[in-house]
Amino acid sequence: MFESLQAMPADAILGLIAEFQEDQRPDKVDLGVGVYRNTAGETPVLNSVKKAEQAILETQASKAYLGTAGNPDFNAAMQAMMFAGTAPDERLVTIQTPGGSGSLRVAAGILLRARDNTTVWVSEPTWANHVPLLGGAGLELKPYPYYDTEKHVLRTDAMLDALREVPRGDVVLFHACCHNPSGLDPSQQDWRAITDVILERGLLPFVDMAYQGFAEGLEEDAYSIRYMAERVPEMIVSSSCSKNFGLYRDRVGTVTFLAADVQAAQVLASQASNYVRTLYSMPPDHGGAVVSAILNDAALREEWHKELDEMRDRLQGMRALLNEALAAKAPEHDFSHLVRANGMFCFLGITAEQVSKLKQDYGIYMVDSSRINVAGITADNVDYLAESIAAVL
Ligand code: LMR
Repeated sequence: MFESLQAMPADAILGLIAEFQEDQRPDKVDLGVGVYRNTAGETPVLNSVKKAEQAILETQASKAYLGTAGNPDFNAAMQAMMFAGTAPDERLVTIQTPGGSGSLRVAAGILLRARDNTTVWVSEPTWANHVPLLGGAGLELKPYPYYDTEKHVLRTDAMLDALREVPRGDVVLFHACCHNPSGLDPSQQDWRAITDVILERGLLPFVDMAYQGFAEGLEEDAYSIRYMAERVPEMIVSSSCSKNFGLYRDRVGTVTFLAADVQAAQVLASQASNYVRTLYSMPPDHGGAVVSAILNDAALREEWHKELDEMRDRLQGMRALLNEALAAKAPEHDFSHLVRANGMFCFLGITAEQVSKLKQDYGIYMVDSSRINVAGITADNVDYLAESIAAVL
C-alpha cells in the first residue's frame, strides 16, 4: 500500500524545533517557531493558567464527553472577548476547536460545503501554514499584495486596489493583528477602507486572530473584527489561545461564524457540529476549561491581563534592543522596521543565503524568509546576534 508514498520535506517552521534541539553549540539562538520566551529564554506556564489548572484538578467531577462545540462557557467568554457585543449574539456561532489550525480547518470545510469552488485570497506573504492548510482542505488560494519587502512597509493602496478586483462572493483572509510573518498591521483607518471594499464588492471577510493582546492590547487588537462585525452581513473569525494564554500544546481556539440572520446562524451551528463530528468528533477539553476558568473569574482574569501586558512589553523591548544593537554593529543598514512591527514576528530583511549562513556558522535559527521571533532575543544574546548578523550582511 504505502510503497507509492514519498518522504515529505520538514515543515518550514516546525522543522526548526528539531534542528535547534540537535545543535550542541552553547551560544545558539532560536528565533524560529513562534513561542513566547521570557528574559531567561524559557516558555513557562503562566501563573493564571497554573491556578486555573489547580482549581480544575480539585473541582472537575467528570471527564464525560462535552459535545462537538466543546465548552459552552469558554465559547461565550471568547466570543465576548473578540466581538464585545458588536454583532447580535443570535447571529454569532462560536465553537471550540483544536487550536487556531483546527479552527481554520473547520472554517475551510464549511466554506467548501457552502460552495465547492470557493477561492480564498491571502496576503502576500502570509503564515507559512495558511496555504498548505487551507489549500490541503480543498480551497483555491490566491494572493493579494500586502508587504513591500524592499521598503518594509504595508502596500495599502496596492492591497485595496487588488481587493477591488476580487470577484464578488470570494473570501478574503486577514490577520487581525500581529501579521505573521511581517508584524505590520493595517491602521484603524486602513481597516475602515478595507471594510468599505468588502461591502462594495460583496466579499466574505475571514479574520485570523492568533495574537489578541500581543500588539496593543485586548481591546485595540480586536478593532478589525468589531468594526467589520457591526457592518458586514457575514464573516468568519478564527482564534487561537496558543500565544496569549501560552497553551500551545493544549490545542485550543475557536471558530466563529457571523451569519446573515438568526435562521442562517442555526443552520451554520448544525453544519459546524456535523462537520466537526466527521473530522475529530469533538475538541480536547483541557485548554478550553483553563481559559474559561480564567476569563470567568475576576481575579484570575486580572492576573492574566498583567501577564499578557508583560509579554507584549517584553516583545516590544526586544525589538528596540536588537534595532539599537544593529544600528551600532551595522550602521550602514537600516533595521528601523523592526520597531514598527507588532507581536512576535518581523522580517529581518536578509537573503536566504544569509539566513543559512547564520544557522551554519553562528547557530542562529530563523525561518528561510528571514522571519524572526523576537521573543528569542535576550539582553544576554543581543550583542552576539547583532555581531553575527553584521558579519553575514
Ligand atoms: C509560527 O508561525 O511560528 C507559529 O504560529 C507556530 C506554527 O504552528 O507555525
